[in-house]
Amino acid sequence: MSDPGLEAALFGENPARDARFTVANVHAETANFPPGDPRRAIEFLHRQMNEEINGLEISARNLADFPDAPWELRMAMARQCSDEARHVAMFRRCFQDRGGRVGEYPVLNFQYRIITRIDSLIGRLAVQNRSFEAAGIDAIQQEIFSPSRESGETDLAELFDAQLADEVQHVRYANMWIPRLKDRAGPRALLDLARAVAIAHEALRVVAGEAATVFPVAEDLRREAGFTDAEIDAARALIAELGAAATR
Ligand SMILES: [Fe+2]
Ligand SMILES: [Fe+2]
Repeated sequence: MSDPGLEAALFGENPARDARFTVANVHAETANFPPGDPRRAIEFLHRQMNEEINGLEISARNLADFPDAPWELRMAMARQCSDEARHVAMFRRCFQDRGGRVGEYPVLNFQYRIITRIDSLIGRLAVQNRSFEAAGIDAIQQEIFSPSRESGETDLAELFDAQLADEVQHVRYANMWIPRLKDRAGPRALLDLARAVAIAHEALRVVAGEAATVFPVAEDLRREAGFTDAEIDAARALIAELGAAATR
């Protein structure tokens, strides 16, 4: 059963977590340390570790829920499972090396809960890979890579380098397969896409509330992941709009 606090039309069930974890429903229930607080960077590693678990769980659900998807696409999703499992381990190691304890901070499974509410593979790839994962690249660049270069934390710089090569592929295969799935399914695919984006848009507003954090678009990386210039401009405009809304 879905948590009573979140509308079942927008959110699926939480994925399983063991007793170490406190599971939050919305961003306001997580540990939000202000910029400059030394706990902020450490908490980000824990949060990101759980988001990588979400990435693994989502790709695994896509494989299980869409057994008739083209074989090459299923291979890409299976590879993503393997990549995300490696990312979980990398974030966990960096977090624990800084004195962190798994389960120390609340975790948020909004990605998994939104994606499993979307009933088409094309919709899931559009929201998860093209949107959440692309935004993840922007966030990691901002929160980990830039500061780690300044502070000389080479383990984080290495983590980012290793992870990035994988994440770009995750966004890129979605950018490649979405038009193919559209061609196969015809007009129904457009409806599926529109429904998925509408669910994600509404659900994110519920999760983020007043506290939506947006990061500058990592332009070169998005281009490498198969976004066109127009799509990068659109992402930048959306972020500017969200930033303006957040300061209102
Ligand atoms: Fe990942
Ligand atoms: Fe990924």
